[in-house]
Formats: sequence, C-alpha cells, structure tokens
Amino acid sequence: MGGWDALPGHVKNAGARSIKSLFDTDPARFADFSVTLGDFLMDFSKCNIDRPTLAALLDIAAQARVADRRDAMFAGGKINETENRAVLHTALRNLDGAPVLVDGTDVMPGVRATLGRMRTFAGRVRAGAHQGAGGTMTDVVHIGTGGSYLGPAMATRALSPCHDGPGVHFVTNADGADSADTLKALNPATTLVLIASKTFTTTETMMNAKTARSWLLAAIPQSRLGAHMVALSSADGRAAAFGVHPDHVFGFQDWVGGRTSVWGAVGLSLMLAIGPENFRMFLEGGQAMDRHFQTAPLAANMPVLLALTGIWHAGACGYDTRAVLPYDQRLARLPAYLQQLDMESNGKGVAMDGSPLRHHSGPIIWGEPGTGGQHAFYQSLHQGTRIIPCEFLIARTGHEPELAHQHRFLLANCLAQSEALLLGRSLECARAMMAARGLEGAELERQAAHRVFPGNRPSVTMLYDRLTPRTLGMIIALYEHRVFVEGVIWGINSFDQWGVELGKELALSLMPVLTGERDGADRDASTRMLARSIRRGQA
Ligand code: F6P
Repeated sequence: MGGWDALPGHVKNAGARSIKSLFDTDPARFADFSVTLGDFLMDFSKCNIDRPTLAALLDIAAQARVADRRDAMFAGGKINETENRAVLHTALRNLDGAPVLVDGTDVMPGVRATLGRMRTFAGRVRAGAHQGAGGTMTDVVHIGTGGSYLGPAMATRALSPCHDGPGVHFVTNADGADSADTLKALNPATTLVLIASKTFTTTETMMNAKTARSWLLAAIPQSRLGAHMVALSSADGRAAAFGVHPDHVFGFQDWVGGRTSVWGAVGLSLMLAIGPENFRMFLEGGQAMDRHFQTAPLAANMPVLLALTGIWHAGACGYDTRAVLPYDQRLARLPAYLQQLDMESNGKGVAMDGSPLRHHSGPIIWGEPGTGGQHAFYQSLHQGTRIIPCEFLIARTGHEPELAHQHRFLLANCLAQSEALLLGRSLECARAMMAARGLEGAELERQAAHRVFPGNRPSVTMLYDRLTPRTLGMIIALYEHRVFVEGVIWGINSFDQWGVELGKELALSLMPVLTGERDGADRDASTRMLARSIRRGQA
C-alpha cells in the first residue's frame, strides 16, 4: 500500500508515540529533519513525522509528479488550466536572464525592460529629479487590493531598516476611512499616487483611485496631474483612459498572478522605499530559493519538505488551521500576506478535472507576531482542545545592535514556545509544583490539572541571520513554492480564484437595493431586511 492510502496507518502510528520519543530514539533527528540554504535554516524535527512517514509523504509527492509540474511551471507551461495561462512570477526574478518561453516567445526581454524602467523612474523620484507640483515627492500612496496590495505592504514594512526614499503609504479598503485617514496627513503637491491593479477594473481600487485623483486635483493644477499618477497594471489601455501617462504605466503579463506580483511592477512602491539595489537583493533571494527548489532532490528540498509538513498536518492528521508566528515585528503582515497566497491558491473544493475533492485542501492560515501573541491566543495553542501546527520565523540577529539584549530575549521566547509545545508539562510535574506551594489533597489535584500542558504539539522553525531584502525574498519564494507543491499534491489548480467572484457580483447588484432604486424583493429575507434597516437608518 502506498500514496494517500498509506497515510491513515502512519497517523495511527504517530498517535501511539510522542514527538519527544522520536528525538530520544534518533540522535540524528535534528540533522536529518532540518534543511539549510545559506544562512536560512528550516527545522521540521518538532513534527510527529518519523522516517517511514517522511518516506511515505515523499512517495506521495513523487506520485503527484511534483518535479514534473515544477519543471513545467518554470518552463512556461500553461499549468493554470482553468484560465489557460502560464505561471511565471519566477521569470520576474530570473536575474541570469536565461530565456523563458511562453507560446514560443522569450518573455525575458520584456521583464528586463520593465525592471529597467522601474529602476530609472524610482531613481528619479528618489533623487528629486521627478518633480510634483510642489517639488520633490515626499510621499507615495500605493492603492490596490489583494495581491496588488498585500505583497508590497508586507514587504515594505518588513524592510523598514532599508527605507531611505519617500514615505510609502497604502490604501486598500473600499471603506472611505482608509483613504481619508491616509490622505489627510499628506501634502498632495508632493505626493505620488500609484494605482496597482492587474485588471484596472477592481471596484474598490478604482473608487480609491478616483478619490485620490480628486484629492490631487483639489490642490494642484490639472496640467501637473500626470506627474502625480502612476499605474501598475497589465491593462495599459484602461490605465490610459483613467488619465495615466503611458510613460507612467508599468506593466506585467497575464502569467503573473496577483498574489505573486510583488516581484515586478506591483513592487514599485517597495523599490521607491528601499531603492533599486535593495530591490535587486530581494529578487536575488527569491531566485536563490527558485534554484534550490529546481535542483535539490525532493528529500532535501526546503519548499517540498515544508509542503509535506502541511500535507501531513492538514491532509492526514486533520488539523484545520496553521499558525504563522513571526518573531520579527517587521513581518507583522506576513500572516495576512500568506492568507491570500495560501488560502486563495489552495482553498479549493474541486480537483483539476472538476470532480469534487475526496479530502480537505488548504488549511486556514492565521497568526500574529511574537511576543504579542503569547499574551493572547497562545493559551489555546498550549492547552486548547485543538492542535494547531505552528510555524515560527526568527532572525539570529536584529537590526538594532544597541538592543541586542532584547533580541536575545525574543530568541529565548521563540525557542521556549516551540519547546513548550513539544514537551508540555506532565501531571506529575504539575502536582510537584502545587505540593511545593503547600497544597495538598483535592485542592492540589484540582490546581495541578489546570497546570498540565499536553505537549506533543508540532511546529516548524525558520531561522535566518537577519531580515534583509535577500532573506525576505527567500521567505516569500519558499512559501510560494510550498503552496504550489501542496496544490499539486492535492490535485487542484492553485492559480485561479473563482471563489471570490460571487460576492463581487452580489455586491454590485445590492447597490440599487441600498439606495432604494430597487426593492430587493428577490433577495432572501435576511438580506432584504438588513438592507431595509440600513435604508431606514440613512433616511
Ligand atoms: O478578488 C481577488 C483578486 O482577483 C486577487 O486575486 C487579486 O490579487 C485582487 O483581486 C486584485 O485584483 P487586481 O489587481 O486586478 O485589482
């Protein structure tokens, strides 16, 4: 018996042992259940995966033809089958420039040309050569949503120690509060507005873009508007119709998915903040992970092994969620970024051929940076009734040498959490603690029970020297490829997102119901009555 059919037996075996026992019986466990790439170390030894289980999972990956699908992706194959598209965000960080063919045409000259234009433009803005109505651009407002927002917002925050350009701000929500709160602090005469939208049709982004355009025009002459507006989009015609000068349109092709678009034109806000050289280091980090993913054997391949922990936890053990816990405050937006990357990619219910899946697909992704989370939801991680696999990320060294003592404390906390999840605290130990405090009898038993930690809870730890542009590039590419591998193994198309469409359509059709132009008699009673209550409240 092999493949998926073998997994229930492995789950049964895992249930009969503790993760700790795997360390006790295997002195080489850490070495063999961790993988390094340069200074980047991924330790998955604290998962309840023994050697036979790992072999079974690798067998599943081989049967799913992960290596063939990977090679097809890098070679420009149309692996996004429901949209008949190639998936080539990796071309955006293909700094060696080796040809990548889509329909027989090399896409690399176009990639290089756009990157070159971005560098020139960013260089001019940063040097003050690109002037607004009020002189040098002091601020940039990046407007976008989903993949046209989360990547740049997450990465810009992550790399704040490299910021030496204009202030970069983000607006994403259709809620006018987002625009209002962001714009009120800025001077329109020295603000550059980037409108990031692959399609240039996304309603909330276009609303926010119009709000920003009106805000600019209230303060600067129409003749100067062009200097203040930039489009990051594959729809150059729509961008031009909106009034963006062709020189200020930075494009990309349909083979770049929104959730993996930060590497190209959509990353212009990041480049403006950190400069073209740091942006290049970011691309280099992504490319280093690509090369590793392409060349390392599956059994020593970081994205593949990370994916197999995911398949094991979500697909075999039935753990529904996965916590991403960066012990790196600047990665505060990583969980949100990964929610889109993972859940929009792998939150699917049908296989590539349209048949219903017989098993769960991607888990629910959530998380917060440590140490804040420790004072909130970690209670449930340690003693709750659900098992939540955790992924910790931490740098060996912080960016603030003068605060090295705080970083040591952060490191100790990160390691302590994964150790506590692994080892827990036994009833005997809890009893001894209570006895030492002078308790006895029933009260000792009652109090001890509350202090037991079951332990035996899985985690993965990622350790890197420092959160540099290169390291961030590696982290993002690692997760991209992990999501890809899990999708291949689940047999789904990780590159479409039809599940976001219905809500968009219904929202548009509800607009006239909210204004009273339509009575909404065709809606369900709950929606109809809520709309009526809103109308009454606004009357
Ligand atoms: O609604 C989902 C989605 O299509 C995402 O996949 C995408 O990243 C986001 O909307 C934004 O789309 P666009 O870049 O076309 O505005």
